[in-house]
Amino acid sequence: MRAVARANTNIALVKYWGKRDTALNLPAVGSLSLTLDGLSTRTTVVFDGKLAADSLLLNGADADERALGRVSKFLDLVRTRAGLIERARVESVNDFPTAAGLASSASAFAALAVAATHAAGLELSDRELSILARRGSGSAARSIFGGFSQMHRGESADGEDSFAEPIVTDWDVRLVIAATMTGRKATLSTDGMRHTAETSPYYDAWVKMSERDLGTARDAITRRDLQALGEVTEASCLSMHASAMAARPAVLYFVGATIEGYRIIQDLRRSGVPAWFTCDAGPHVKALTDAAHAQQVEAALAKLGKTWICRPGPHAEVLE
Ligand code: DP6
Repeated sequence: MRAVARANTNIALVKYWGKRDTALNLPAVGSLSLTLDGLSTRTTVVFDGKLAADSLLLNGADADERALGRVSKFLDLVRTRAGLIERARVESVNDFPTAAGLASSASAFAALAVAATHAAGLELSDRELSILARRGSGSAARSIFGGFSQMHRGESADGEDSFAEPIVTDWDVRLVIAATMTGRKATLSTDGMRHTAETSPYYDAWVKMSERDLGTARDAITRRDLQALGEVTEASCLSMHASAMAARPAVLYFVGATIEGYRIIQDLRRSGVPAWFTCDAGPHVKALTDAAHAQQVEAALAKLGKTWICRPGPHAEVLE
């Protein structure tokens, strides 16, 4: 009734933004991501008949009500499936500084899906784990897998065709992260994407475009064409943010340092360095590049804040 699991976070190259169903957390668009080495969540789950309620410890401190509620709801899915009534104690630790604002629901719900099902005695396939992780957070469905993976939007109402799949695990690219550290609390992605879908005149255009971007990115990965992948990565990110900025009122995640990072990456490219910008529901700057240029890209972004060079990361796994 106890298990420990680890999952790594991932960065979407073709973004997920918008849902076709909120109850089952089904995405309105497919997405494509790279799982990152060195940024992982380690989660312990213990189901115990003596517990009166679920509890959640995040990096050694009691989690707030919203986080506990989300985890408890997720555990209900596992309990129902396994026929359990026991409450659980969950402990989750990130091996990267949470203060840097890189804490991710992707690694968190992927690790929770693996640990909770294992502790409950369930044996799920990777696809079933991905479908389950999606219920916690859309991006978590992709963190079950290592390397590049693609999340399918799916068509069915029950969401059984909305899961991620690995594409390629042996292409050794790099993702450089610069945490701009503004300390500002961003709009949570769940809220930001709902508001965009409800009010942005550009939302439909975003959904339409992302289908084409997915095909382009997948094709680029198959051919190991970094330039083609980089170009569609940057375009998908900026289209997502454009749809959010056009919401009323606007959902704006960029700060000054984000734009500065974008300019730095553009200048690097003009000088012949292969690097492309991406950014999620926060102000941090991420650059896709290759192994030979990662340090140069990191040095150029270092003035924005703390930096990491990430290699492709591993598949989620049971540790104990
Ligand atoms: C901008 O997976 O956090 O990072 O499903 O509501 O939990 P929920 O959303 P979440 O959204 C991620 C948004 C993004 C793009 C991406 O990772 O694809």
